[in-house]
Amino acid sequence: MEYSNVNLIVFLILILFILINETQSVYGEKANILKREKEDLELEKQLKILNKKPIKTMVTNFGDIVDCIDIYKQPAFDHPLLKDHKIQMAPSSIPEELTNKNISSSIFRSSNMGHRFRHDKCPPGTVPIRRTKKQDLINARNLLHKATPIGPYAYTLSPMDNRVVSIVEFSETKAFFGATAEISAHGLELDNNQFSTAQVWIKNGPDEEINSIEFGWMVYPALFGDSRSRLFGYWTADNHKQTGCFNVLCSGFVQVHSEVFLGALLESLSIYGKDSRILPVKVSRDPQTGNWWLITTKIIGYWPKEIFTHLTNNASILRYGGIAGAKPQTPAPPMGNGYLPQLKDYNKTAFMAEMKYVNEKGQSVNLNPYGIQTKKDATLDCYNILFAGNIGGDWEITMAFGGPGGMCP
Ligand SMILES: *[C@@H]1O[C@H](CO)[C@@H](O)[C@H](O)[C@H]1NC(C)=O
Ligand SMILES: *[C@@H]1O[C@H](CO)[C@@H](O)[C@H](O)[C@H]1NC(C)=O
Ligand SMILES: *[C@@H]1O[C@H](CO)[C@@H](O)[C@H](O)[C@H]1NC(C)=O
Repeated sequence: MEYSNVNLIVFLILILFILINETQSVYGEKANILKREKEDLELEKQLKILNKKPIKTMVTNFGDIVDCIDIYKQPAFDHPLLKDHKIQMAPSSIPEELTNKNISSSIFRSSNMGHRFRHDKCPPGTVPIRRTKKQDLINARNLLHKATPIGPYAYTLSPMDNRVVSIVEFSETKAFFGATAEISAHGLELDNNQFSTAQVWIKNGPDEEINSIEFGWMVYPALFGDSRSRLFGYWTADNHKQTGCFNVLCSGFVQVHSEVFLGALLESLSIYGKDSRILPVKVSRDPQTGNWWLITTKIIGYWPKEIFTHLTNNASILRYGGIAGAKPQTPAPPMGNGYLPQLKDYNKTAFMAEMKYVNEKGQSVNLNPYGIQTKKDATLDCYNILFAGNIGGDWEITMAFGGPGGMCP
């Protein structure tokens, strides 16, 4: 009798335990659903802010949706620091790169004319903005350092392991007003856990508050949904903590060109051993407004002076190179053209030529070959960078970079 009583009590306690557990998990489930619903609402709100009502919508050959948005209503102007910003429609002087009469005499420059973007222009008074899909935001969020966006929806660089190779021009005395380079353009096969860039950095400020503008081409499947090479721009005003993002995933960059936009595909890529295709890039500070203009073969737009704290007057560091990112403990992606760099056959290497800085007068000036350092974050069988110095001709200051990646320590 006593025995069965104990049994009954044990049984009852067990039932009670299960019940409590169940209710807890039901509550837990409910809290999760609520959290997900809240996140969902937040994403929808954010999408509404980022995706303005289009005046016209275009679909590129590769399925990107591009909206033509009233130039005065583009996402940039949601930035709280740009409430009173007066839009600048063109740089105060036309960049010398675009007025160069001899442009077609260089193999280099003629080949980059292949960078056509297969869709229409936006109607006058509107600018093309690549439409942000909900999945893009979810992907971008999954790449965040911090889970919650702050202020004007900040996105930072991914929590991936980033390996960087670069040429650094650093000077405590010299102030830089821009940077320019001709970057070879390549295609890369990356998976969703990887990204790879060929880029220039323009920086100023102490490490913890570093202001940076980064631009060039990138392959970033988690951001774009494919492994294609695209024009990109990135900015931060606080060492990637709370401000900044890629392209127009947050407000900041002001688009003025009616056809070429951040995130646009590079349609003409180098063929290994046969042909080099170039993406010319330049970012320079407008001496009259202090805005930082992004120029490729076209004047694309600018990062306004207001969004920066240490890039208001000039830059103190320029870098030229690549970043290869991957989830920790997974293979690192290829960088450049996927081969280790060499200086013998430029059709078989990723490179940057005509590496210049912009001086106080707005002129593009060769980097000083004796004033640069090379920096490598990875073992030399993963990635490398080789500085060729001034090799003359149209090429001038030139370097080669990249590598296959793999299981890099
Ligand atoms: C154009 O470029 C070619 C080849 O680099 C050079 O020989 C020629 O002098 C240049 N012409 C002008 C007008 O700059
Ligand atoms: C690359 O190959 C093309 C086509 O064979 C050739 O015209 C060009 O000179 C080569 N470029 C370099 C930098 O070797
Ligand atoms: C560059 O910027 C710094 C800090 O804003 C400023 O003190 C310095 O005068 C600037 N240099 C030039 C040449 O404009």
